[in-house]
Amino acid sequence: MREVAPVQILVTGGAGFIGSHLCERLINAGEEVICLDNFFTGSRDNIAHLLDNPRFELIRHDVVEPIRLEVDQIYNLACPASPIHYQFNPVKTVEANVMGTLNSLRLAQDVGARILQASTSEVYGDPTVHPQTEAYRGNVNPIGPRACYDEGKRVAETLMMDYHRQDGVDIRIARIFNTYGPRMDEADGRVVSNFIVQTLRGEPLTLFGTGEQSRSFCYVDDLVEGLIRLMNAEGIHEPVNLGNPHEFTMLELAEQIAELFGTPSSVRFCPLPEDDPTQRCPDISRAGLLLGWAPRIELREGLQRTIADFQRRLAKAPERGGQRATARRASERQGNGEGVMPSKLFQSESPNLRT
Ligand SMILES: NC(=O)c1ccc[n+]([C@@H]2O[C@H](COP(=O)([O-])OP(=O)(O)OC[C@H]3O[C@@H](n4cnc5c(N)ncnc54)[C@H](O)[C@@H]3O)[C@@H](O)[C@H]2O)c1
Repeated sequence: MREVAPVQILVTGGAGFIGSHLCERLINAGEEVICLDNFFTGSRDNIAHLLDNPRFELIRHDVVEPIRLEVDQIYNLACPASPIHYQFNPVKTVEANVMGTLNSLRLAQDVGARILQASTSEVYGDPTVHPQTEAYRGNVNPIGPRACYDEGKRVAETLMMDYHRQDGVDIRIARIFNTYGPRMDEADGRVVSNFIVQTLRGEPLTLFGTGEQSRSFCYVDDLVEGLIRLMNAEGIHEPVNLGNPHEFTMLELAEQIAELFGTPSSVRFCPLPEDDPTQRCPDISRAGLLLGWAPRIELREGLQRTIADFQRRLAKAPERGGQRATARRASERQGNGEGVMPSKLFQSESPNLRT
């Protein structure tokens, strides 16, 4: 029997990749969860297994509009996270970051909730220091195609700090680095999902530039553990990096995936997209010191679990990725004034596909 009352928790963007794992984890811990999502990139499939739980509630809502809910904690994740999605309607991406964070902060202030912002390593832009510590102020192009996301997230951090300094709102800022795992959108153009889907479909792997650019990949369970620890730690108002510090080049990742499938993959090289960072790796000393957190799941194990999930999903509906995404955007069009995403964006030739 649980001795304390469940915590009432709002997860905006809860039907997305990370959000759905977070909701699941919080439900399993006995908490009460309100999942709020406009289904721009999230899906009901991601949370279908939670819908019958009496401690889980789903609200279709856009964070750009205010909402009033009685909650103790808010995880603010609502924002498309992959370049093909956040560049589809960049103005909407800025709105989701700025208005969405503002509305979430106002709600936190009104009901006295603690709020955690899902920020990103993209606030460091194309970094000139390596690895990136939280003290690094970044190298972001404010007028490039990625700025709607990078600058949107930077303003969101500014709002968080200002609401904390000005009004005493109890904030947490997680700077999340590349995360992967089951339930990633098959068509989001990220390198892990791309390589897995391309291998499953017998297509060549798309490598940008020389393939020597590096990323670090954090398995979603590790990331969710870090988010929950940060939310529940006392008095941490400065940003905290959460990510896996083990760096891999894109070529190494392609090799690992080919090895796990046991099939050699051919590779197709494409030009690097604009403003694509060449190196990205978190310094996680602060998370270690303040939260006792470090990722535990090795890339190989995480990839195995992710591949198994993609195999299951693609076996059910081989072309579902593209169809689902296009259909989703068509329905969003009515609510958000957005156009239908052209299906060519889901082909591997797209210069927008990146890590
Ligand atoms: N996945 C990563 O590697 C990564 C890295 C850094 C930061 N993040 C951040 O973590 C959060 C979750 O990322 P994810 O990978 O799960 O992405 P995702 O696209 O799968 O999830 C985002 C969710 O937010 C919802 N959403 C988008 N705009 C909304 C709006 N205006 N109102 C309500 N809901 C809205 C989407 O429908 C989706 O369910 C994002 O804020 C992202 O910026 C993710």
